[in-house]
Amino acid sequence: MKPRTGLIGWRGMVGSVLMERMATEGDFTRIEPVFFSESQPGEPGPCLDGLAAQPLEDATNLHLLAAMDIIICCQGSEFTRRIYPDLRAHGWQGHWIDASSALRMAEDSVIVLDPVNRAMIDRQLAAGTRTWSGGNCTVSLLLMALAGLLRQDWVEWISTMTYQAASGAGAVQIRALLQEMGHLHACVAHQLTDPAAALRDLEASASSWLAQRAASSPALVPLAANLIPYIGTARPTGQSDEEGKGQEEACRILGCPDAPLPVDGLCVRVGSLRCHAQAVTLRLKREVPLAELEACLAQAHPWLHLVPNEPDASRHQLTPAAVSGSLRIAVGRVRQMTLGPRYLTLFTLGDQLLWGAAEPLRRQLGILLERT
Ligand code: HSE
Repeated sequence: MKPRTGLIGWRGMVGSVLMERMATEGDFTRIEPVFFSESQPGEPGPCLDGLAAQPLEDATNLHLLAAMDIIICCQGSEFTRRIYPDLRAHGWQGHWIDASSALRMAEDSVIVLDPVNRAMIDRQLAAGTRTWSGGNCTVSLLLMALAGLLRQDWVEWISTMTYQAASGAGAVQIRALLQEMGHLHACVAHQLTDPAAALRDLEASASSWLAQRAASSPALVPLAANLIPYIGTARPTGQSDEEGKGQEEACRILGCPDAPLPVDGLCVRVGSLRCHAQAVTLRLKREVPLAELEACLAQAHPWLHLVPNEPDASRHQLTPAAVSGSLRIAVGRVRQMTLGPRYLTLFTLGDQLLWGAAEPLRRQLGILLERT
């Protein structure tokens, strides 16, 4: 019997990337999928290869949800907080795989990132855990990049400065970014056709449009030709919520048996579409030759793409444009710093919707399916 697997929030940004990946990997042939919707129950569901579209089930109907063996939920924290506790209180014993942050720190939940914490997942599965959360995208991508060094227990602390894509702020931010790009071009299009136009005039027209946009839409700060050095809400530590999650979630994923691994930095939103990049500084527990560090990084898992610390390779392979839409975790600019041989710097990036969100959930489904 194929496990009855409910999918909630499958039309959103993370959900639709998950659907694409599941279709590509043939996952739908291994489950009996049931598509849920909160807003459109009864409407036709998606057409999957070889299967007739079934009507969408009501995502708030606990009896229907309780008939599932597995539920994958990409609907967001608010939905999970509203529905999940009631479903468990209803006696449901199935596996809940959640994309949101709602359950990440819950006692009975594990943050899944199997290339990094497969042993923990297996242990918890054997111990009866039934709740699995995807991690914060920035944290998952950082740990995927540093997996080799962390496995060796070479890292004393990590400081990471992020360059986070518009997709992390949702579909609205991506649409706004693309519209801003269009507006910016439109306000200088005429001058651009004139080779004699003064650069100062071009820049002044574009900057004036940006200033007007920023003043007129304070809730949606422009990202085109701009950046935003604050992601999420404020914490008493002075960190943003996004920054605070770095250490919290990294420790939860890694297990950190002895002491927490210190992770801190600044999270910044930039105008890339769906790739989160991070400039990492870390201190090693002991001096390790650079070639050994590079080999360790590169061999961590099959998705790690080590880019030589050279100008051309960095410009072509270590950019959001090169990595977007792929499962590659690119790591480059690796060097020991002039601060001392135990200080290492590197630049890393990965697709925020793939390894940053959908892929760990899809792979957790795969791990559960191995057991059924
Ligand atoms: N919080 C992330 C961001 C996305 O704002 O980019 C979700 O992990």
